[in-house]
Amino acid sequence: MLNHTATSVVTIDRYIIEQERQHPEATGELSGILYDLALAAKMISSKVRRAGLADVLGATDHENVQGEVQQKLDVFANDTIVKAMDHSGRLCGMASEEEPDIIQIPDRFRCGKYCLLFDPLDGSSNIDVNVPVGTIFSVVQKITRGKHGEAEDFLQPGRRQVAAGYVIYGSSTMLVYTTGQGAHGFTLDPTIGEFLLSHPDIQMPDTGRYLSVNDSYEQYWDENVKSLMRRYRGLEGGGKPFNVRYVGSLVADFHRNLLGGGIFCYPANTKNPNGKLRLLYEANPLAFIVEQAGGLASDGRQSIMNVQPTELHQRTPLYIGSRSAVNAAVETLGRELVTV
Ligand code: AHG
Ligand code: MN
Ligand code: MN
Repeated sequence: MLNHTATSVVTIDRYIIEQERQHPEATGELSGILYDLALAAKMISSKVRRAGLADVLGATDHENVQGEVQQKLDVFANDTIVKAMDHSGRLCGMASEEEPDIIQIPDRFRCGKYCLLFDPLDGSSNIDVNVPVGTIFSVVQKITRGKHGEAEDFLQPGRRQVAAGYVIYGSSTMLVYTTGQGAHGFTLDPTIGEFLLSHPDIQMPDTGRYLSVNDSYEQYWDENVKSLMRRYRGLEGGGKPFNVRYVGSLVADFHRNLLGGGIFCYPANTKNPNGKLRLLYEANPLAFIVEQAGGLASDGRQSIMNVQPTELHQRTPLYIGSRSAVNAAVETLGRELVTV
């Protein structure tokens, strides 16, 4: 582990190079992907910061593959990432929440050995009301023989990720990433346009303070989920109650819990039997980060990163956060359902 502290002035580029040096076999391609993502993050941040002035508020008249109306900033963020990444020669294809199929690398560009999966703008419903939003990304290595990315390359379990991270456009813009050597946070200094190391080797508190859940779905939860939420609220099982904090941006809720301890829950419910969040570019990347920080991520039965994907945009229930809180979820949800 690098022995930097948050007070030493270390740019993300330098940190990436120093981490790469710990792998003599590294070709530098993965490092290049991370640099390019940091650049895309700066460009999106610049737009988000001026959203009310730069005519990027509001919705387009398009729906995405999720059946959700695309916000202008969804489309801007998506296009920014595709344009920043498609010509680098490091990727064999991309998958985005905003595009139905694999985004192929144009023939005029060289293909590489990595696949990028991403949620260009997470928490879109919050853009127009100035609540933090984010970007989430995941990188896996190509496993098929051809030049271009194929479905099999993208449908890999989260355990196969080689890098993952997110950007939160909050009171400051932060980028948190992992390549399996800890989870590290960088804060954008807009006066110099650099991401500077601010949170080296993040460790998630084991006992949480926060519970993030949208309990307007309570009527659609099964009895075990209801019992689990009573347990988190200190109404059952005798534990200390969590503070409930839910802003409706996964990245913002996750980031607060990562630093302060706690759990984010998006349970299955009778309206969404697989929950709402997407496995490949929301749950898996955050699961990689949280495990590197000492936390856990489960679908209620198994570790999220053990799930074998079958579809690009498949959804999953998600319980992600402090180890003890996620274990309580698996224990409670695994019980024989209490039939009332
Ligand atoms: P996205 O904007 O990328 O579609 O993601 C929105 C997600 C996630 O950010 C958030 O936690 C969740 O939707 C909120 O869903 P509810 O409004 O159903 O609580
Ligand atoms: Mn999202
Ligand atoms: Mn999104």
